[in-house]
This record gives sequence, structure tokens and C-alpha cells, in this order.
Amino acid sequence: MRRFLIDTDTASDDAVAIVMALRQPDVHVEALTVVAGNVGLVQAVQNALYVVELCGEETPVHAGLAKPIMRTLETASEVHGEDGMGDCGLPLHGRTPADGRGVDVIVDTILGSPGEITLVCLGPLTNIAAALLRAPEIANAVGRVVVMGGTGVQGPGNVTAMAEFNFWADAEAASIVTGSGMPLEFVGWDVSITSAVVTQDRFHERDALGTPMAVFSRDVAQAVRRFAIGIGLEGDDLPDPIAMAHAIDPSVAEISRLHVEVMFGDGLQRGAMSIDKIGSTGATPNVDIVTHYPSDHFFEMLFDALK
Ligand code: RIB
Ligand code: CA
Repeated sequence: MRRFLIDTDTASDDAVAIVMALRQPDVHVEALTVVAGNVGLVQAVQNALYVVELCGEETPVHAGLAKPIMRTLETASEVHGEDGMGDCGLPLHGRTPADGRGVDVIVDTILGSPGEITLVCLGPLTNIAAALLRAPEIANAVGRVVVMGGTGVQGPGNVTAMAEFNFWADAEAASIVTGSGMPLEFVGWDVSITSAVVTQDRFHERDALGTPMAVFSRDVAQAVRRFAIGIGLEGDDLPDPIAMAHAIDPSVAEISRLHVEVMFGDGLQRGAMSIDKIGSTGATPNVDIVTHYPSDHFFEMLFDALK
């Protein structure tokens, strides 16, 4: 069994990514740690608890940090809906998270099983940065770190022309994590809009599954689908699910290993990546950037999880 630890700002696409991991036969999800991002922390925790219950699992859900390290929280409720789950009327309240702070759970889980944990990051990197500040040694103890974040080698951004939401929301955290020495694999928004867009054909293919989980993944995405089509995409894209697909099966990904720094502060550089594409800085490459993930393979994995 492979052992995953998932950090999430649980909105509609996070939820589908979590379902993929919970339903993957050879993956054990140790815990979910929750971070503020798409929605506030309290709502993100309730959304994560709902998904775990929907999957019939006992996976512990731990609340992490409620705001970025240096900034006020700016959510994406205009994208995913006020509740982050499409405002489709799900009962996303009244559940109780596990004891233990998310940052402590990240540190203890990784140090407790050196080399064995795959950390999958689906939201702003606030919890991960805090864990690194508390215990820098997790950088060498963690097995893999798969991050939905950034804009790949070529872009585009989805908040600004150069920045993707998870890196933009807490740019300082993204900078700390990128410079930490962790074994980083970035799956950017470029991969999502290239290979994980729920086109009309994919929408109907998913409907044809006729399963409760297929209906769930459609309903929670109704707000983000309206938003995505409004900005000219053929349908809602699934950034966290395709990052989770890469975590589960990295064998089909095309990778460029490059030196990456994430810029912070305010202005256009906030959350943008400085990528040394030709090695001109002499800096040691520190990130495996996924430059392509086959769409057919992704949707086959996704629909297997929704069956
Ligand atoms: O930019 C896409 C990322 O921001 C995804 O993780 C989505 O859930 C939002 O958090
Ligand atoms: Ca997310």
C-alpha cells in the first residue's frame, strides 16, 4: 500500500481528487489536513469531512491554518460557490474534525515514517511552509511531494497572467516550500486546462456512468463550470484531480526538472514562478515540473474512481 497525506482547501475539484485517492485500491490515505484557500478554514474542514463520510471512510480530517502566513485570506468563492461545493445544497456542516493541528500532523506523519509518505498538496502551501519552519528535517524525510500549483513552464496563470491561485493566495508559503529541498513535483494549471477539461463529450461520458459519485462530482462543479465557460473554456477543468492522478500514476507524465523560485510580495510578481529553463543561473534544479499528462489516461482514472 502506498501512503498518502493530503493537504486541501476543499472545494469542488479538491473533493473529486480526494475521492480518487480514497477509492484507489493500493493507496492508504493517512489523513487529510485542511488549509484556508478556496473557502475559509471552517467550511473547508466541513467539506473534507463530508467527502470522507460520502466515501464511507474513517480517514481523520485535521484543521490546519486559517490564513496565509503574511496576508489576509482571499478566497475563490466567486469560482466554486459560497460553500466551495457548487452551492448545490449539500449538508456541509455539523461534523467534527479529529484532534490535532494539521501542521503537527504533517510533521509527525512524515517523521514517523521516513521515506514512506507521499504528500499531495491541493491548496495554498501555508500548512506545508509552517511544517517546514517547525521541522525543516521533513524535507529529507518525505517520500514525494506532489503539488497542484503554478503555471508549468509556459503558463498561463488563472489569477494574474503569471500566477496560479494556490501559489498566489500564499506566495510566501509557496516560496518557502519551493526553496526547502523537498522532492517537489509540480502539476500546474496549464496541465489542467490542457488535459483535464470536462468538455461536453466528457460531461455526457460521466453522466453515462449513472453512479452517485458521478452525480456528486457533476453537482459540486456546477458553479466552477459556469465560471470556466464564462472565461472561455469548453467546461470546468479539474486541476486537483489531475494532480492526484499524477500522484497515483506518475509513469505517463512528461517532466522537466528545472530550477524554480516562486516570487512573493505584492504586484505582478506575486505567486509567479521564475524558472531557469536553460540552466543559465547555475542553480541546481529543485522541481520536477509536469509538462504533459495524457488526457485520456486521466479521464480513465477519474471515471474508474467515479464508477
Ligand atoms: O488554481 C487551481 C487551484 O486553486 C486548485 O487547487 C483549486 O482547488 C484552487 O484551490
Ligand atoms: Ca484546491
